[in-house]
Amino acid sequence: MELFTDKTIDETRQGEAFSSKENQENTFSRKFFIESYGCAMNFSDSEIIASILNSNGYGSTKFEEDADLIFLNTCSIREKAELTIRKRLTEFRKLKKKRPGLLIGVLGCMAERIKGKLLEEEKLVDIVVGPDAYRTLPLLINEAESGTKAVNVLLSRDETYADISPIRLNSNGVSAFVSIMRGCNNMCSFCVVPFTRGRERSRDIESIINECKDLFSQGYKEVTLLGQNVDSYNWVDHVNGTVADFAILLEKVAQISPTLRIRFSTSHPKDITDNVLFTMRKYDNICKYIHLPVQSGSTRILQLMNRTYTREWYLGKVKRIKEIMPECAISADIIAGFCTEEEKDHQDTLGIMREAAYEFSYMFIYSERPGTLAAKRYYDDVDIDTKKRRLAEIIELQNKLSFESNTKDIGKHSEVLIEGDSKRSDAHWVGRNSQNKVVVFEKDPLKQFKKGDYAIVEITDYTQATLFGRIIR
Ligand code: 5AD
Ligand code: SF4
Repeated sequence: MELFTDKTIDETRQGEAFSSKENQENTFSRKFFIESYGCAMNFSDSEIIASILNSNGYGSTKFEEDADLIFLNTCSIREKAELTIRKRLTEFRKLKKKRPGLLIGVLGCMAERIKGKLLEEEKLVDIVVGPDAYRTLPLLINEAESGTKAVNVLLSRDETYADISPIRLNSNGVSAFVSIMRGCNNMCSFCVVPFTRGRERSRDIESIINECKDLFSQGYKEVTLLGQNVDSYNWVDHVNGTVADFAILLEKVAQISPTLRIRFSTSHPKDITDNVLFTMRKYDNICKYIHLPVQSGSTRILQLMNRTYTREWYLGKVKRIKEIMPECAISADIIAGFCTEEEKDHQDTLGIMREAAYEFSYMFIYSERPGTLAAKRYYDDVDIDTKKRRLAEIIELQNKLSFESNTKDIGKHSEVLIEGDSKRSDAHWVGRNSQNKVVVFEKDPLKQFKKGDYAIVEITDYTQATLFGRIIR
């Protein structure tokens, strides 16, 4: 799930502050600064953490110099992600010298993976908290304030933070993340997530619907339902005996309002059902876009990765999506240079990309993660130059595919949800269409559009990354 990442660069960073009313009235005597890295789930978790801290008397600040508490919500997915965090930690040394009472906390996947050892390795860290232990943060802060370093990395089988109303951080007021499940049971051999985020569990359906309704009533127009594997969403209500799968959840969220857009991420190809696809087709407000990580185009490598599908089976899934929704855009995650990958496996990856004709991809070099099945069973035997060359070829092909896909949009009328001013000029709006493509178009002084409105835009030009157009209505 890499919603926030640049398509080729995999580590992100974003300082955050309340965008809500609480911030303007920020009268708290103690302040925290939180920075999120990695996947959308971490950004969503930071909003839960902000809510927990807020209820316990801590206000946010966007300036690390003003903070009594600095939190890094971390990612472990690749080694580079962890190195980025370690480097960032060193930047707080000076600050800590200046302000001896300042507490530094490492949260999220890296906290879970390295656990208490992080305190030995990174001397300036005071608090280490795993993804399922955020409710205990206020206690851990107290402990650290009294001079004892504090760690809680217990994983849970049922924590979903269902009752916590996230405080929206750095929000554009138009789109928001809503977490629907946590953890992953899939055990892909390269992946550290099952170890850092624990077993899969689904969040109470009523709490999800209520959060989406609240967002809509506050003016939000788009929700992205988040989970490591949303298609295995499965809520069992033990009181009235009802069961809801992802198709049912999607339908219920879609019925909140036809003007509330729904996106979701991530889908495992083995779990996305025809029911989900038919529900997507039935509702115009469910965006026609599926992130469907392939990882590799070689059946042999897929087997080593424990992805549980073959190349042909995956392509069958793509065909099925296009049969049911010809206009649906598909994106993928792709790993270059997994253990034992040979040139012909790499060619299979390039081949499957051409056949699936992905609109976008998130592309990575394989990075061995301690404790994973791959680290235990296989040699990381593809040299770094070969990995880099293969990744470059994958990126080059994806750029070509994105360009070709955008070519076909010329002359089409696209419904665009306006997210704000274009970065390059405030005479232009920027938004996304149903297919998740970024669309930039000139503001029309006669038509009073604002952020959060839908505009119908005729596509007149494009680059590989962006569509350009003019307002029709
Ligand atoms: N090395 C490189 N990429 C990885 N991913 C997960 N684990 C690794 C790893 N060890 C990628 C996968 C996944 C995405 C979130 O990150 O493509 O779908
Ligand atoms: Fe990792 Fe696979 Fe689970 Fe995705 S589905 S989080 S790649 S184990």
